[in-house]
Amino acid sequence: MTSRLLMPRHVALVPAAGTGSRMDAQLPKQYLPLAGRPVLWHTLRALASVARIDHVWVVLSAGDQWFDRHDWSVFGARLTALRCGGPSRAASVLAGLRAMQPHVAGSDWVLVHDAARPCLTADLVERLIDTVGEDDAGGILALPIADTVKREGGGGRIVETVPRAGLWAAQTPQMFRHAMLLEALSNAALDQVTDEASAMEATGVQPRLVMGDVCNMKITLPADLVLAETLLAGRQSRTERQNG
Ligand code: C5P
Repeated sequence: MTSRLLMPRHVALVPAAGTGSRMDAQLPKQYLPLAGRPVLWHTLRALASVARIDHVWVVLSAGDQWFDRHDWSVFGARLTALRCGGPSRAASVLAGLRAMQPHVAGSDWVLVHDAARPCLTADLVERLIDTVGEDDAGGILALPIADTVKREGGGGRIVETVPRAGLWAAQTPQMFRHAMLLEALSNAALDQVTDEASAMEATGVQPRLVMGDVCNMKITLPADLVLAETLLAGRQSRTERQNG
């Protein structure tokens, strides 16, 4: 590992303790098969393939019965599994931040990334790290909202068209200094926090918006898995063509 006396390090934290109830499957969505591997494997590979990411921590639920059934050896000592997941995504992230505390400095950058976003690319991670730089406010990948946004008032009827100017859809990774994120989440109402940035915003910080990519989609519904498989297969065949 790089010396802490030098620049702050970048590490990744992947909350993977959810049950993925919207997938209508026997398995949590991070373990569903995708291109011959569990979804989580692709997610971890994307992060581990970035040289500037020093280490990857994955947060599992205490009762996880699936992680040990798969082969993670390709990640070697770059990956640590923590069995400390909580009842919400934010609680899992907070537990992970606490568990990794002995191994990081408060100024180190933590990139929190959903286990269910397996199509992340190294280029996107590099863009986030480069754009945030050493800005203490941190930042997130996100996409400007292209569709017209409607608010439902109940019964499947529209009560309002929400002006979309300035609206972005948050993605992950979301990148913050370890000590600042730990403090923000420690003081937050965890069941209302759906991403790290919102906990940071509550402390008065204005995180940076960094252009994400539509391919960095979150697997939520069964059809998303088909889309992800198509995206990964397209990338694989492009790589094979380039390598002759
Ligand atoms: O369910 P959702 O798509 O919002 O989950 C986002 C991420 O948070 C997933 O990677 C999921 O495994 C994780 N999560 C968690 N602990 C929970 C709930 C969700 O780590 N209790």
